[in-house]
Amino acid sequence: ALADKGNHRHFMAKEIYEQPETVSHTLAHYLDLAGETVKLREELPFDFAKLSRLTITACGTAFYAGLVAKYWFERYARLPVDVDVASEFRYREPPLPDNGLTLVISQSGETADTLAALRYAAKEGQHIAALVNVQESTIARESHVIFPTLCGPEIAVASTKATTAQLSILASLAIAAGQARGVLSPSDAHALVRALIELPRNISEMLRFEGRVEEISRNLSRAKDVLYLGRGQLYPIALEGALKLKEISYIHAEGYAAGELKHGPIALVNEEMPVIVVAPSDELMEKTLSNMYEVAARGGKIILITDAEGKAEAGGGIDDIIEMPRVHPFVAPILAAVPVQLLAYHTAVFMGTDVDQPRNLAKSVTVE
Ligand code: G6P
Repeated sequence: ALADKGNHRHFMAKEIYEQPETVSHTLAHYLDLAGETVKLREELPFDFAKLSRLTITACGTAFYAGLVAKYWFERYARLPVDVDVASEFRYREPPLPDNGLTLVISQSGETADTLAALRYAAKEGQHIAALVNVQESTIARESHVIFPTLCGPEIAVASTKATTAQLSILASLAIAAGQARGVLSPSDAHALVRALIELPRNISEMLRFEGRVEEISRNLSRAKDVLYLGRGQLYPIALEGALKLKEISYIHAEGYAAGELKHGPIALVNEEMPVIVVAPSDELMEKTLSNMYEVAARGGKIILITDAEGKAEAGGGIDDIIEMPRVHPFVAPILAAVPVQLLAYHTAVFMGTDVDQPRNLAKSVTVE
């Protein structure tokens, strides 16, 4: 049964709940689980050690996965990365360096703008790699190497399990690149791989907080506008959270880099606007929390997504906390994607929207 919701009310809920399994299944293809190392089965038509630049292009949620990957490849592989939405990239016609790799990310493998961006990069002599969920797709066919997401068909318009599969692969590739480029020692790489291996269990753990997220979503469904804040590799998750919320609940939401708060969005803060802060513990958490206090000082209503350490650090006065299991900061964006999905999902259910088929949106945008 290709299209079977199981015990769930919507495909989106089913797909959210499949993630411990789909992430685990995807990782099994990219890692040597027993040896706790990255092991790519795809033959690479390029050498990570010799790449001059990585260019990532995609649309929608897949673009935000690419934005997280930028932080990973820069940090763990010291590889310069450009990321752009495909609809801008294709017409900007950017100069691309010799020995550059262009990586396109697309669940469907048929998004018109992403395909056009791929064709431009190919014409410019780039190596072309694609992360796709549909292996018979046009994007898969036109790429030099494909990295399959292996999460099974995704039915709900809002992407969930494909996103966490994309992120899991991008994380694995960043480790492979870091080792090839001599940035990560075997023991550094081992610590990161371990964090990935533990991820499915942590996602299961996260899903146990669904009841709490549902309660918070009841209040969220009364908001007119919502602001999402994150820093560093959690910034793209803030963007993704805002995208999901507007897509399926039709509540206006914006994602912002926490440090930019003072350059604009803080003017909007009042008791009416919930501000969702994504800040699991890492070296930037304190900076993000200090932005959170700036919101609190102006009467903003805060929903904090963090772990036990962040909770202790944040102290009292926070309206709502969604607690994530404590994980290695490397994998925190993958885990944080889950509460963000649940918030959008439950808010949409309270709003009574057509969760799996939101108005005006299509699963796959094959026309420009
Ligand atoms: C549409 C979907 C999004 C998706 C985007 C890119 O807008 O509604 O969920 O992220 O297309 O799709 P792709 O298949 O290229 O990942």
